[in-house]
Amino acid sequence: MSRFPNARPRRLRTSPAMRRLVAETRLHPADLVLPVFLREGIDSPQPITSMPGVYQHTPDSLRRAATEAAEAGVGGIMIFGVPEDHDATGTGAVDPEGIQNVGLRLLAEEVGDAMVVISDLCLDEFTDHGHCGVLAADGTVDNDASLARYQEMGLAQAEAGAHLLGLSGMMDGQVGAVRSALDAAGHTSTGTLAYAAKYATALYGPFREAVDSQLTGDRKTYQMDPANRREGLRETLLDVAEGADVVMVKPSTLYLDVLSDVAREVTVPVAAYHVSGEMAMVEAAAERGWIDRDRTILETLLSIHRAGAGIIATYWATEAAAWLNER
Ligand code: PBG
Repeated sequence: MSRFPNARPRRLRTSPAMRRLVAETRLHPADLVLPVFLREGIDSPQPITSMPGVYQHTPDSLRRAATEAAEAGVGGIMIFGVPEDHDATGTGAVDPEGIQNVGLRLLAEEVGDAMVVISDLCLDEFTDHGHCGVLAADGTVDNDASLARYQEMGLAQAEAGAHLLGLSGMMDGQVGAVRSALDAAGHTSTGTLAYAAKYATALYGPFREAVDSQLTGDRKTYQMDPANRREGLRETLLDVAEGADVVMVKPSTLYLDVLSDVAREVTVPVAAYHVSGEMAMVEAAAERGWIDRDRTILETLLSIHRAGAGIIATYWATEAAAWLNER
């Protein structure tokens, strides 16, 4: 016996073909979901400065972006509406002519056979105080009154043609409430993607610019404390018990521990959202020439996949899908 080791993992790294054969994880365009913004009252797409390459779309530019994503093989598209008017109860969210519902109809018609069309079921874009729910007299976010509003919003989105409702409000019981409203109205095939473990992170900053957020305070009474790992699993298991079809962890790269716990414990598909601030950090460093942008993007998405997300929401979806198709 040689005095050198027999186990030599390096044998499996000797050539590109060998490395490809033994790769444990692979990215595929169909695993990616593209988040998009549709803004009311503009006649040309508006760039979002802190999210290079991302726009507030007009219906026409949205159609083009959606078609491009579908042609690249992207698996899903998730739409956020940016309305002109806001009020205390977020009327624009339940109005069939509200901007998000208009966008859902457009996407379902244009690309609904090629991609899964996903809504954002949260009131924050539509309320004048910017919270994800309606407020009680004392100014706190009223959980159960918000659930009643989510039920109406869910019905409007199902009727607009959404395939999956992205329940992102973080009210307790949101999945069960929306599920029962959908079923009672006969929308039994419309699914729910629950933002099950959604943290109160600093990393939503650029998104708030993207949706012209009206928020002045914070969301710490409903979004999760970044200190909590076990609670991420607890929130997820509650959503699964209420009937969530897909569960999501958000943000992604700073929460890979939570993602890994969730992926090990649940049997429904698991998604992760690579959010605006996570994207902005990479873009800013790449712009300065401090990191290799393309390699960092692919390594970022791979790490999220490796930690257990079968589905990844990323603003880079179309671009990354195109690279993956070239390989
Ligand atoms: C809520 C919502 C938010 C994001 C997606 N859905 C913002 C928030 O909760 O404050 C953030 C996404 C991102 O930062 O990319 N409607």
